[in-house]
Amino acid sequence: MEEAACEAESSIDLAHGNLLLYSRVSPRQCWRIARGTVWRSSISELAFEQLWSAIADIGRDSVTGGYRRFAWSEADLRMREWFAGECESRGLELTEDRMGNQWAWWGDPDGSTAGSIVTGSHLDSVPDGGAFDGPLGVVSALLAVDRLRADGLTPRRPIGVVNFVDEEGARFGVSCAGSRMITGVLSPDRALALRDADGVTMADAMRAVGRQPEQLGPDPEALSRIGSFVELHIEQGRGLIDLSRPVAVGNGLWAHGRWRTEIPGEANHAGTTRLNDRRDAVIGCAHLVLEARAAAEAHESLATVGKINIMPGGVNAIARLATAWLDARAADEAALSATVDQIAGQVASLGGVMVEESRTPHTDFDNALVTRLTSLLDDAPVMSTGAGHDAGILANAGVPAAMIFVRNPTGISHSPAEWAEPEDCLAGVAALASVLADLAGVEP
Ligand code: GLV
Ligand code: MN
Ligand code: MN
Repeated sequence: MEEAACEAESSIDLAHGNLLLYSRVSPRQCWRIARGTVWRSSISELAFEQLWSAIADIGRDSVTGGYRRFAWSEADLRMREWFAGECESRGLELTEDRMGNQWAWWGDPDGSTAGSIVTGSHLDSVPDGGAFDGPLGVVSALLAVDRLRADGLTPRRPIGVVNFVDEEGARFGVSCAGSRMITGVLSPDRALALRDADGVTMADAMRAVGRQPEQLGPDPEALSRIGSFVELHIEQGRGLIDLSRPVAVGNGLWAHGRWRTEIPGEANHAGTTRLNDRRDAVIGCAHLVLEARAAAEAHESLATVGKINIMPGGVNAIARLATAWLDARAADEAALSATVDQIAGQVASLGGVMVEESRTPHTDFDNALVTRLTSLLDDAPVMSTGAGHDAGILANAGVPAAMIFVRNPTGISHSPAEWAEPEDCLAGVAALASVLADLAGVEP
């Protein structure tokens, strides 16, 4: 096929942010698959493309190109089935813990007193999420296993690949629900009573897909199998762009959390109620949003109101209630608390309430592990992140954990614009493979 023709075809998919953007790799030959045309520049790139293209359409909104893979939804189930199939085809033994986290094992997970080396990430998404947040870590984990095998290596310690359920908390509100549950940070009673936007509880959502929610609880057995956890993830900011490096080592997470606020008003007619007689919940909510911005500026933190629900929601009705969710993050606990306290003061003055839905402390990853990864990865830069991850939940439960970030040339995440170049994805796989080989110890 002509190079120009390939370029043109590929650029159609550019709008949808899927893997076919790989046309930007200097093309050497075209490889036709059912969905279109991708470039093949190496066998490992082809392997990446094959895995990636299998999930590219799952849960993708055809208008925005973003993903909607919410916990226990049909799209999530398809992702889980895909993961199970890939594990099965590799002869990895798949287990599911009581919360529904999927674990695939190369070797006996109980066969090493030092514990296993576990990698992986999550397959769910935020509303209109990008393709890479989560799946890049899972796909890279599978490919890193393939790579060790292709090199004829067998790990001395078992290697696990995990898909954590409900990392984003997009459906039930609590992020990292899968890892919070097994570590005991999220209680079963609370989790099961969480409701999605349609009023469906997590308990009912799990029951509907054949799970047994009454079995939920901390899972010390699953945890005790993890000797070390290394999560590869797309970088969600601009750090690696600025450094001109393809991968970095993650050494920690900012303190962060989510709060639900309710701002009251009084429902009334938009055409007959004098301005002075109004109690408009939306006006209160606007003050809350501006206070969040002011507090973030004052305390060098981040504060975001990304979801608002207005009741009753009529164009010609003054709102009686605004429910707004605050996401706040800061490099240290004091700055986070100061930010949240300032916003809470505003909410109180509006006669509203503010309820903490989840909070994760400032997290330092395991120093020895971070140092080890850094030296293994050619003195890769080390960075912390304001994003939350299951690696943070595990680290706070005492599991030695660290992360590998892969450059994101758009610097944008939680959006269809999130991206990673193919050569950087492959650099991530190579980095992860060498980390797994080192930590697990390999023999020919
Ligand atoms: C997860 O991606 C988060 O940081 O909210
Ligand atoms: Mn995310
Ligand atoms: Mn993620």
